[in-house]
Amino acid sequence: MMTDTTAVADLITPSWDYAPAPEARGLATIQASYGLFIGGEFVDPHADTSFATIAPSTEEHLAEVALADADDVDRAVAAARKAAKGWQKLSGAERGKYLFRIARLLQERAREFAVLETLDNGKPIRESRDVDIPTAAAHFFYHAGWADKLDHAGLGPNPQPLGVAGQIIPWNFPLLMLAWKIAPALACGNTVVLKPAETTPLTALLFAQVCQQADLPPGVVNIITGAGDTGAALVAHDGIDKVAFTGSTGVGKAIQRQLAGTGTRLTLELGGKAANIVYDDAPIDQAVEGIVDGIFFNQGHVCCAGSRLLVQESVHDLVIDKLKTRLATLRLGDPLDKNTDIGAINSAEQLERITTLTDTGTSEGAERWSPDCVLPDQGFWFRPTIFTNVAQASRIATEEIFGPVLSVLTFRTPDEAIAKANNTPYGLSAGIWTDKGSRILWTADRLKAGVVWANTFNRFDPTSPFGGYKESGFGREGGRHGLAGYLAANDDIEVAR
Ligand code: NAI
Ligand code: MG
Repeated sequence: MMTDTTAVADLITPSWDYAPAPEARGLATIQASYGLFIGGEFVDPHADTSFATIAPSTEEHLAEVALADADDVDRAVAAARKAAKGWQKLSGAERGKYLFRIARLLQERAREFAVLETLDNGKPIRESRDVDIPTAAAHFFYHAGWADKLDHAGLGPNPQPLGVAGQIIPWNFPLLMLAWKIAPALACGNTVVLKPAETTPLTALLFAQVCQQADLPPGVVNIITGAGDTGAALVAHDGIDKVAFTGSTGVGKAIQRQLAGTGTRLTLELGGKAANIVYDDAPIDQAVEGIVDGIFFNQGHVCCAGSRLLVQESVHDLVIDKLKTRLATLRLGDPLDKNTDIGAINSAEQLERITTLTDTGTSEGAERWSPDCVLPDQGFWFRPTIFTNVAQASRIATEEIFGPVLSVLTFRTPDEAIAKANNTPYGLSAGIWTDKGSRILWTADRLKAGVVWANTFNRFDPTSPFGGYKESGFGREGGRHGLAGYLAANDDIEVAR
């Protein structure tokens, strides 16, 4: 194994630069303005208000989007309620046909969706093209298959839909989070009102067009745009039977308080501060790739990001040397360029949050390092950053930064690794790197995290349930477990009787 990092750097850092390889922006058509998608058509918001969505990589104005208020929420919920009876009455096989149709349309229009996602969100086209859009389509295919097999979901015979679901999603994986929410809800016979995040509404609005193209019955999917107030009005509406929320822990807690005692079902997918544990017997080069993927994928805007690296003391220096060498090869810049690894931070507010938190890292005594890379003049950018010598109690070790920032801690024994990994109010995900299968099982058994990856990181598959413990929320999305969030199980029916 080569340990001389200069020699490695010479080998893997070419002295030439990549020529730009931009994806064709014209693949996506952006309208000047968008209405609300209610009852199968685009309608004006009743107060005629709107807000702008921009491209975070350039700060370019992309479109004006309708701002929904409580009256618009009311209209959307009424449309979903009206559609619910007919949708529930369809056989599972018929509902499945619509979901298959949507899945195929997402595939057919994948390049258009990928360009639009990259423009509106700032993420590299490589990721929207290879991860976000195909995984979103996969969720519709997967749940299309479940629609006529719900009797076998483990919830007893003939489980029933809940009714109308209010769904609120964040900006980090806009179309993918939409798919995680809408596909299972529809497969189980529910209708939905979904609110995308205010900085990334465009792929949800293109999805509304796909629903029209698929001839989905009007009102089965309604999409309303707006910010926190619109989301709060949706949660507060007494015509919804279930709320599904993905976003910050603060808002999740507020929603839980708001719904306490109402009987409205709730699932929450919130933040995380995942430990990525590297034992001394791990395949180090693969582990370094996994560390990079764990925290620098999607600019670190990932709830399950491996933001706390726990590395066994004896291999710490080797891992950090190799990591720095690898980070020096990452290309930051135009997200539409197919060579780009690190895109733009999603908003000025998020950049501000990341900057403030990382500043505390330095003031609390950790050592900060970033590769040399030129940041574009326009837009919101943050260099990939690692902190070593991080104290367990420091803010960068305890709080979710939600940016391309890695905090490195060390451990000597497996027990110490477990104690440090679980020393967090969150419990969404974790990673384990080791050569030994028995050690993977021993460690996974002791980690308090909903998802544990072994010798890999950030793998998403519709068949696999995803969700957290503690302040990371409750409920699962994906797999058979995810269906339970949209069905009334037999014991619920018993209680209702
Ligand atoms: P946020 O939780 O405010 O936004 C997420 C969604 O909730 C958006 O659609 C927003 O419009 C909506 N929302 C906001 N306030 C609401 C309310 N009172 N009632 C109902 N819906 C409401 O998250 P934000 O401000 O964009 O990000 C702040 C931090 O949250 C990030 O730095 C990150 O740490 C964390 N976060 C975690 C995410 C995850 O995937 N778990 C996703 C986004 C943010
Ligand atoms: Mg935007």
